[in-house]
Amino acid sequence: MDTTQLKDKFIELFGPDGTLYTSPGRINLIGEHTDYNGGFVLPGAIDKAMYCVIKPNGTDRVKAFALDLNESSEFGLKEEDKPKEGWAKYIFGVAREMIKKGKEIPGFDIVISGDVPLGAGMSSSAALESAVGFALNDQFKLGFTRPELATIGQSTEHNYVGVKCGIMDQFASCMGKEGSLIRLDCRSLEHEYVPFDPKGYKLVLLNTCVTHELASSAYNTRRESCERVVEAIAQKHPEVKLLRDANPEMLEEVKDKVSAEDYTRADFVIGEIQRLLDTCEALKKGDYETVGKKMYETHEGLSKKYEVSCRELDFLNDKAKELGVTGSRVMGGGFGGCTINLVKEDKVDEFVKNASEAYEKEFGIQPKVYDVVIKDGARKID
Ligand code: GLA
Repeated sequence: MDTTQLKDKFIELFGPDGTLYTSPGRINLIGEHTDYNGGFVLPGAIDKAMYCVIKPNGTDRVKAFALDLNESSEFGLKEEDKPKEGWAKYIFGVAREMIKKGKEIPGFDIVISGDVPLGAGMSSSAALESAVGFALNDQFKLGFTRPELATIGQSTEHNYVGVKCGIMDQFASCMGKEGSLIRLDCRSLEHEYVPFDPKGYKLVLLNTCVTHELASSAYNTRRESCERVVEAIAQKHPEVKLLRDANPEMLEEVKDKVSAEDYTRADFVIGEIQRLLDTCEALKKGDYETVGKKMYETHEGLSKKYEVSCRELDFLNDKAKELGVTGSRVMGGGFGGCTINLVKEDKVDEFVKNASEAYEKEFGIQPKVYDVVIKDGARKID
Protein backbone atom coordinates (compact mmCIF):
# COMPACT_ATOMS: atom_id res chain seq x y z
CA MET A 1 0.00 0.00 0.00
CA ASP A 2 1.18 3.50 -0.69
CA THR A 3 1.48 5.08 2.75
CA THR A 4 2.04 8.68 1.61
CA GLN A 5 -1.50 9.78 2.45
CA LEU A 6 -1.30 8.17 5.88
CA LYS A 7 1.99 9.90 6.70
CA ASP A 8 0.71 13.23 5.37
CA LYS A 9 -2.43 12.98 7.48
CA PHE A 10 -0.38 12.32 10.59
CA ILE A 11 1.74 15.42 9.93
CA GLU A 12 -1.36 17.50 9.27
CA LEU A 13 -3.02 16.43 12.53
CA PHE A 14 -0.10 15.87 14.88
CA GLY A 15 3.06 17.27 13.33
CA PRO A 16 6.33 15.60 12.27
CA ASP A 17 8.34 12.72 13.76
CA GLY A 18 5.72 9.97 13.77
CA THR A 19 6.94 6.41 13.22
CA LEU A 20 5.27 4.03 10.76
CA TYR A 21 4.49 0.40 11.64
CA THR A 22 2.60 -2.33 9.84
CA SER A 23 1.18 -5.78 10.43
CA PRO A 24 -0.49 -8.01 7.84
CA GLY A 25 -3.67 -9.98 7.39
CA ARG A 26 -3.43 -13.73 6.88
CA ILE A 27 -4.56 -16.69 4.85
CA ASN A 28 -4.95 -20.17 6.27
CA LEU A 29 -4.34 -23.18 4.03
CA ILE A 30 -6.17 -25.63 6.27
CA GLY A 31 -7.08 -26.16 9.94
CA GLU A 32 -10.19 -24.08 10.59
CA HIS A 33 -11.86 -23.63 14.00
CA THR A 34 -9.11 -25.80 15.45
CA ASP A 35 -7.11 -23.05 17.18
CA TYR A 36 -9.40 -22.51 20.18
CA ASN A 37 -9.59 -26.29 20.49
CA GLY A 38 -5.81 -26.50 20.98
CA GLY A 39 -5.27 -28.03 17.54
CA PHE A 40 -3.07 -27.06 14.60
CA VAL A 41 -3.38 -24.38 11.93
CA LEU A 42 -1.39 -23.55 8.80
CA PRO A 43 -1.60 -19.78 8.20
CA GLY A 44 0.68 -17.33 6.44
CA ALA A 45 0.88 -13.53 6.59
CA ILE A 46 -0.09 -11.79 3.34
CA ASP A 47 0.71 -8.66 1.36
CA LYS A 48 -2.35 -6.84 2.65
CA ALA A 49 -1.86 -5.09 5.96
CA MET A 50 -2.88 -2.49 8.51
CA TYR A 51 -0.57 0.47 9.09
CA CYS A 52 -0.21 3.02 11.87
CA VAL A 53 1.84 6.15 12.40
CA ILE A 54 2.37 6.88 16.05
CA LYS A 55 4.15 9.31 18.39
CA PRO A 56 4.05 9.89 22.18
CA ASN A 57 2.18 13.14 22.92
CA GLY A 58 3.32 13.94 26.45
CA THR A 59 -0.20 13.64 27.94
CA ASP A 60 -2.12 10.71 29.41
CA ARG A 61 -4.60 10.61 26.53
CA VAL A 62 -4.75 8.97 23.14
CA LYS A 63 -5.72 10.96 20.06
CA ALA A 64 -6.57 8.61 17.23
CA PHE A 65 -7.69 9.04 13.64
CA ALA A 66 -8.94 6.35 11.24
CA LEU A 67 -8.01 7.57 7.77
CA ASP A 68 -10.22 5.15 5.84
CA LEU A 69 -13.29 6.17 7.84
CA ASN A 70 -12.31 9.82 8.24
CA GLU A 71 -13.17 9.57 11.93
CA SER A 72 -11.37 10.65 15.07
CA SER A 73 -11.51 9.45 18.66
CA GLU A 74 -9.95 10.65 21.90
CA PHE A 75 -9.77 8.63 25.08
CA GLY A 76 -7.83 7.96 28.27
CA LEU A 77 -6.29 4.62 29.15
CA LYS A 78 -8.23 3.71 32.28
CA GLU A 79 -10.73 0.84 32.08
CA GLU A 80 -13.67 3.25 32.25
CA ASP A 81 -12.35 5.30 29.31
CA LYS A 82 -13.40 2.79 26.61
CA PRO A 83 -14.11 4.73 23.40
CA LYS A 84 -17.41 4.31 21.58
CA GLU A 85 -16.00 3.99 18.04
CA GLY A 86 -15.60 0.33 17.05
CA TRP A 87 -12.16 0.78 15.48
CA ALA A 88 -10.82 2.75 18.46
CA LYS A 89 -11.71 -0.13 20.80
CA TYR A 90 -8.92 -2.15 19.22
CA ILE A 91 -6.32 0.51 20.03
CA PHE A 92 -7.70 1.02 23.52
CA GLY A 93 -7.96 -2.75 24.12
CA VAL A 94 -4.37 -3.47 23.11
CA ALA A 95 -3.08 -0.69 25.39
CA ARG A 96 -5.32 -1.89 28.25
CA GLU A 97 -4.11 -5.48 27.92
CA MET A 98 -0.53 -4.23 28.14
CA ILE A 99 -1.30 -2.09 31.17
CA LYS A 100 -2.95 -5.10 32.85
CA LYS A 101 0.38 -6.88 32.41
CA GLY A 102 2.02 -4.21 34.54
CA LYS A 103 3.30 -1.86 31.83
CA GLU A 104 2.98 1.90 31.79
CA ILE A 105 1.68 3.43 28.60
CA PRO A 106 1.68 7.22 28.28
CA GLY A 107 -0.55 9.13 25.88
CA PHE A 108 0.10 8.98 22.16
CA ASP A 109 -1.16 10.24 18.80
CA ILE A 110 -1.97 7.67 16.17
CA VAL A 111 -3.37 7.52 12.63
CA ILE A 112 -4.40 4.15 11.18
CA SER A 113 -5.15 2.91 7.67
CA GLY A 114 -4.94 -0.33 5.75
CA ASP A 115 -5.75 -2.44 2.73
CA VAL A 116 -6.93 -5.69 4.33
CA PRO A 117 -10.48 -6.04 3.03
CA LEU A 118 -12.92 -5.91 5.97
CA GLY A 119 -15.12 -8.92 6.64
CA ALA A 120 -13.29 -11.02 4.04
CA GLY A 121 -11.87 -13.57 6.46
CA MET A 122 -8.35 -12.16 6.11
CA SER A 123 -8.19 -10.92 9.70
CA SER A 124 -8.16 -7.18 9.38
CA SER A 125 -8.83 -6.86 13.11
CA ALA A 126 -5.88 -9.06 14.09
CA ALA A 127 -3.74 -7.01 11.72
CA LEU A 128 -4.80 -3.81 13.48
CA GLU A 129 -4.22 -5.26 16.95
CA SER A 130 -0.81 -6.53 15.91
CA ALA A 131 0.24 -3.27 14.25
CA VAL A 132 -0.77 -1.26 17.32
CA GLY A 133 0.75 -3.82 19.71
CA PHE A 134 4.03 -3.90 17.81
CA ALA A 135 4.11 -0.08 17.65
CA LEU A 136 3.44 0.46 21.36
CA ASN A 137 5.95 -2.24 22.29
CA ASP A 138 8.63 -0.57 20.22
CA GLN A 139 7.82 3.04 21.09
CA PHE A 140 7.66 2.50 24.84
CA LYS A 141 10.27 -0.29 25.05
CA LEU A 142 7.84 -2.65 26.78
CA GLY A 143 9.83 -5.82 26.10
CA PHE A 144 7.03 -8.11 24.87
CA THR A 145 8.02 -10.94 22.53
CA ARG A 146 6.11 -11.42 19.27
CA PRO A 147 4.12 -14.41 20.57
CA GLU A 148 3.22 -12.32 23.63
CA LEU A 149 2.01 -9.54 21.34
CA ALA A 150 -0.15 -12.12 19.59
CA THR A 151 -1.80 -13.16 22.87
CA ILE A 152 -2.32 -9.48 23.74
CA GLY A 153 -4.21 -9.08 20.44
CA GLN A 154 -6.25 -12.19 21.19
CA SER A 155 -7.20 -10.93 24.69
CA THR A 156 -8.20 -7.63 23.10
CA GLU A 157 -10.75 -9.53 20.97
CA HIS A 158 -12.00 -11.42 24.02
CA ASN A 159 -12.25 -8.50 26.41
CA TYR A 160 -12.90 -5.41 24.28
CA VAL A 161 -14.49 -6.71 21.06
CA GLY A 162 -16.45 -9.72 22.34
CA VAL A 163 -15.16 -12.43 19.99
CA LYS A 164 -13.78 -15.45 21.82
CA CYS A 165 -11.28 -16.13 19.04
CA GLY A 166 -8.29 -18.44 19.01
CA ILE A 167 -4.66 -17.41 18.53
CA MET A 168 -4.22 -18.11 14.81
CA ASP A 169 -4.81 -14.68 13.28
CA GLN A 170 -2.71 -12.61 15.67
CA PHE A 171 0.06 -15.22 15.68
CA ALA A 172 0.27 -15.21 11.89
CA SER A 173 0.21 -11.42 11.80
CA CYS A 174 3.01 -11.07 14.37
CA MET A 175 5.13 -14.07 13.31
CA GLY A 176 4.65 -14.32 9.53
CA LYS A 177 7.64 -15.03 7.30
CA GLU A 178 7.92 -14.32 3.59
CA GLY A 179 7.37 -17.43 1.47
CA SER A 180 6.42 -19.69 4.39
CA LEU A 181 3.31 -20.97 6.08
CA ILE A 182 3.39 -21.47 9.85
CA ARG A 183 2.49 -24.88 11.19
CA LEU A 184 1.32 -23.79 14.60
CA ASP A 185 0.41 -25.98 17.55
CA CYS A 186 -2.17 -23.73 19.17
CA ARG A 187 -1.88 -25.45 22.55
CA SER A 188 1.86 -25.04 23.10
CA LEU A 189 2.47 -22.29 20.50
CA GLU A 190 5.32 -24.43 19.15
CA HIS A 191 5.65 -23.65 15.48
CA GLU A 192 7.53 -24.52 12.39
CA TYR A 193 7.92 -22.51 9.17
CA VAL A 194 6.90 -24.56 6.16
CA PRO A 195 8.26 -23.10 2.89
CA PHE A 196 5.32 -22.84 0.52
CA ASP A 197 6.05 -22.72 -3.17
CA PRO A 198 3.61 -25.01 -4.92
CA LYS A 199 5.24 -25.42 -8.32
CA GLY A 200 2.64 -25.32 -11.08
CA TYR A 201 -0.14 -24.12 -8.76
CA LYS A 202 -1.42 -20.81 -7.47
CA LEU A 203 -3.46 -19.82 -4.44
CA VAL A 204 -6.34 -17.54 -5.36
CA LEU A 205 -8.87 -15.95 -3.04
CA LEU A 206 -12.39 -15.21 -4.23
CA ASN A 207 -14.23 -12.76 -2.01
CA THR A 208 -18.01 -13.27 -1.92
CA CYS A 209 -18.24 -9.65 -0.71
CA VAL A 210 -20.92 -10.65 1.75
CA THR A 211 -20.67 -10.76 5.54
CA HIS A 212 -23.63 -12.21 7.32
CA GLU A 213 -24.84 -10.65 10.50
CA LEU A 214 -24.17 -12.06 13.92
CA ALA A 215 -21.01 -13.74 12.77
CA SER A 216 -19.33 -13.08 16.10
CA SER A 217 -22.12 -14.49 18.25
CA ALA A 218 -22.39 -17.54 15.97
CA TYR A 219 -18.61 -17.95 16.32
CA ASN A 220 -18.86 -17.87 20.11
CA THR A 221 -21.67 -20.45 20.16
CA ARG A 222 -19.48 -22.84 18.10
CA ARG A 223 -16.79 -22.48 20.70
CA GLU A 224 -19.29 -23.17 23.50
CA SER A 225 -20.40 -26.39 21.75
CA CYS A 226 -16.80 -27.59 21.75
CA GLU A 227 -16.40 -26.74 25.42
CA ARG A 228 -19.55 -28.65 26.38
CA VAL A 229 -18.32 -31.76 24.58
CA VAL A 230 -14.94 -31.50 26.33
CA GLU A 231 -16.74 -31.27 29.66
CA ALA A 232 -18.72 -34.43 28.89
CA ILE A 233 -15.64 -36.37 27.75
CA ALA A 234 -13.58 -35.18 30.73
CA GLN A 235 -15.95 -36.85 33.17
CA LYS A 236 -14.47 -40.17 32.15
CA HIS A 237 -11.17 -38.91 30.74
CA PRO A 238 -10.02 -36.05 32.99
CA GLU A 239 -6.84 -35.65 30.93
CA VAL A 240 -8.97 -34.20 28.12
CA LYS A 241 -8.79 -30.43 28.50
CA LEU A 242 -9.47 -29.44 24.89
CA LEU A 243 -10.90 -31.24 21.84
CA ARG A 244 -7.30 -31.63 20.70
CA ASP A 245 -6.89 -34.23 23.45
CA ALA A 246 -9.94 -36.22 22.39
CA ASN A 247 -10.23 -38.96 19.78
CA PRO A 248 -13.24 -40.26 17.81
CA GLU A 249 -13.81 -43.13 20.27
CA MET A 250 -14.10 -40.73 23.19
CA LEU A 251 -16.59 -38.66 21.22
CA GLU A 252 -18.69 -41.78 20.53
CA GLU A 253 -18.78 -42.53 24.27
CA VAL A 254 -20.58 -39.24 24.99
CA LYS A 255 -22.84 -39.26 21.94
CA ASP A 256 -25.96 -39.69 24.08
CA LYS A 257 -24.85 -37.19 26.68
CA VAL A 258 -24.46 -34.16 24.40
CA SER A 259 -26.84 -32.58 21.90
CA ALA A 260 -26.74 -33.82 18.32
CA GLU A 261 -25.57 -30.36 17.28
CA ASP A 262 -22.67 -30.30 19.75
CA TYR A 263 -21.71 -33.85 18.74
CA THR A 264 -21.60 -32.96 15.04
CA ARG A 265 -19.55 -29.84 15.66
CA ALA A 266 -17.01 -31.71 17.79
CA ASP A 267 -16.88 -34.43 15.15
CA PHE A 268 -15.87 -31.80 12.60
CA VAL A 269 -13.13 -30.38 14.83
CA ILE A 270 -11.58 -33.75 15.68
CA GLY A 271 -11.58 -34.63 11.97
CA GLU A 272 -10.13 -31.24 11.01
CA ILE A 273 -7.18 -31.57 13.40
CA GLN A 274 -6.28 -34.87 11.75
CA ARG A 275 -6.87 -33.41 8.29
CA LEU A 276 -4.28 -30.73 8.92
CA LEU A 277 -1.69 -33.31 9.93
CA ASP A 278 -2.45 -35.35 6.80
CA THR A 279 -2.17 -32.21 4.68
CA CYS A 280 1.26 -31.42 6.14
CA GLU A 281 2.43 -34.92 5.17
CA ALA A 282 1.13 -34.41 1.63
CA LEU A 283 2.85 -31.01 1.43
CA LYS A 284 6.17 -32.59 2.38
CA LYS A 285 5.81 -34.94 -0.58
CA GLY A 286 4.72 -32.15 -2.91
CA ASP A 287 1.42 -34.03 -3.35
CA TYR A 288 -0.87 -31.09 -4.08
CA GLU A 289 -3.69 -33.27 -5.35
CA THR A 290 -4.09 -34.66 -1.82
CA VAL A 291 -3.78 -31.16 -0.33
CA GLY A 292 -6.62 -30.06 -2.60
CA LYS A 293 -8.77 -33.05 -1.68
CA LYS A 294 -8.35 -32.21 2.00
CA MET A 295 -9.39 -28.61 1.33
CA TYR A 296 -12.65 -29.82 -0.24
CA GLU A 297 -13.23 -32.10 2.75
CA THR A 298 -12.73 -29.14 5.07
CA HIS A 299 -15.28 -27.11 3.13
CA GLU A 300 -17.80 -29.92 3.30
CA GLY A 301 -17.30 -30.19 7.06
CA LEU A 302 -17.47 -26.45 7.67
CA SER A 303 -20.62 -26.25 5.61
CA LYS A 304 -22.57 -29.34 6.68
CA LYS A 305 -21.26 -30.12 10.16
CA TYR A 306 -19.91 -26.91 11.63
CA GLU A 307 -22.48 -24.79 9.76
CA VAL A 308 -20.33 -21.71 9.24
CA SER A 309 -20.69 -21.49 5.45
CA CYS A 310 -23.42 -19.70 3.52
CA ARG A 311 -25.08 -19.92 0.11
CA GLU A 312 -22.55 -17.60 -1.54
CA LEU A 313 -19.53 -19.54 -0.26
CA ASP A 314 -21.07 -22.90 -1.14
CA PHE A 315 -21.79 -21.61 -4.63
CA LEU A 316 -18.17 -20.62 -5.20
CA ASN A 317 -16.99 -23.93 -3.79
CA ASP A 318 -19.30 -25.87 -6.15
CA LYS A 319 -18.09 -23.79 -9.08
CA ALA A 320 -14.47 -24.53 -8.20
CA LYS A 321 -15.23 -28.24 -8.19
CA GLU A 322 -17.10 -28.01 -11.48
CA LEU A 323 -14.21 -26.14 -13.11
CA GLY A 324 -11.62 -28.70 -12.05
CA VAL A 325 -9.92 -26.60 -9.37
CA THR A 326 -7.56 -28.73 -7.26
CA GLY A 327 -8.75 -27.53 -3.84
CA SER A 328 -11.25 -24.98 -2.54
CA ARG A 329 -12.85 -24.07 0.75
CA VAL A 330 -14.23 -21.29 2.90
CA MET A 331 -11.41 -19.55 4.76
CA GLY A 332 -11.39 -18.15 8.29
CA GLY A 333 -14.34 -17.90 10.66
CA GLY A 334 -16.98 -18.23 7.90
CA PHE A 335 -20.45 -16.69 7.36
CA GLY A 336 -19.13 -14.84 4.32
CA GLY A 337 -15.74 -13.61 3.18
CA CYS A 338 -13.47 -15.59 0.90
CA THR A 339 -12.90 -19.02 -0.50
CA ILE A 340 -9.26 -20.05 -0.80
CA ASN A 341 -8.52 -21.99 -3.97
CA LEU A 342 -5.54 -24.08 -4.99
CA VAL A 343 -5.57 -23.86 -8.76
CA LYS A 344 -3.30 -25.30 -11.46
CA GLU A 345 -1.53 -22.34 -13.04
CA ASP A 346 -2.93 -22.96 -16.51
CA LYS A 347 -6.49 -23.04 -15.13
CA VAL A 348 -6.37 -19.83 -13.11
CA ASP A 349 -7.68 -17.44 -15.77
CA GLU A 350 -10.50 -19.69 -16.86
CA PHE A 351 -11.54 -20.39 -13.26
CA VAL A 352 -11.52 -16.75 -12.20
CA LYS A 353 -13.48 -15.68 -15.28
CA ASN A 354 -16.10 -18.42 -15.18
CA ALA A 355 -16.60 -18.44 -11.42
CA SER A 356 -16.86 -14.64 -11.28
CA GLU A 357 -19.40 -14.49 -14.12
CA ALA A 358 -21.52 -17.25 -12.64
CA TYR A 359 -21.42 -15.66 -9.18
CA GLU A 360 -22.41 -12.28 -10.52
CA LYS A 361 -25.28 -13.82 -12.46
CA GLU A 362 -26.56 -15.64 -9.38
CA PHE A 363 -26.10 -12.96 -6.72
CA GLY A 364 -25.74 -9.68 -8.62
CA ILE A 365 -22.38 -9.04 -6.96
CA GLN A 366 -18.99 -9.13 -8.60
CA PRO A 367 -16.64 -11.16 -6.42
CA LYS A 368 -13.20 -9.71 -5.74
CA VAL A 369 -10.17 -11.74 -6.71
CA TYR A 370 -6.82 -11.73 -4.91
CA ASP A 371 -3.59 -13.59 -5.62
CA VAL A 372 -1.97 -14.79 -2.43
CA VAL A 373 1.52 -13.46 -1.75
CA ILE A 374 3.07 -14.65 1.52
CA LYS A 375 4.96 -11.94 3.36
CA ASP A 376 6.65 -11.04 6.65
CA GLY A 377 4.76 -10.27 9.86
CA ALA A 378 4.63 -7.11 12.01
CA ARG A 379 7.45 -4.61 11.49
CA LYS A 380 8.58 -1.02 11.66
CA ILE A 381 8.93 0.78 8.33
CA ASP A 382 11.80 3.27 8.19
C1 GLA B 1 -11.37 -16.51 13.05
C2 GLA B 1 -10.71 -16.48 14.43
C3 GLA B 1 -9.56 -17.49 14.50
C4 GLA B 1 -9.99 -18.87 14.04
C5 GLA B 1 -10.74 -18.78 12.71
C6 GLA B 1 -11.33 -20.10 12.29
O1 GLA B 1 -10.48 -16.05 12.09
O2 GLA B 1 -10.23 -15.20 14.74
O3 GLA B 1 -9.05 -17.54 15.83
O4 GLA B 1 -10.75 -19.52 15.01
O5 GLA B 1 -11.78 -17.83 12.73
O6 GLA B 1 -10.33 -21.02 12.07
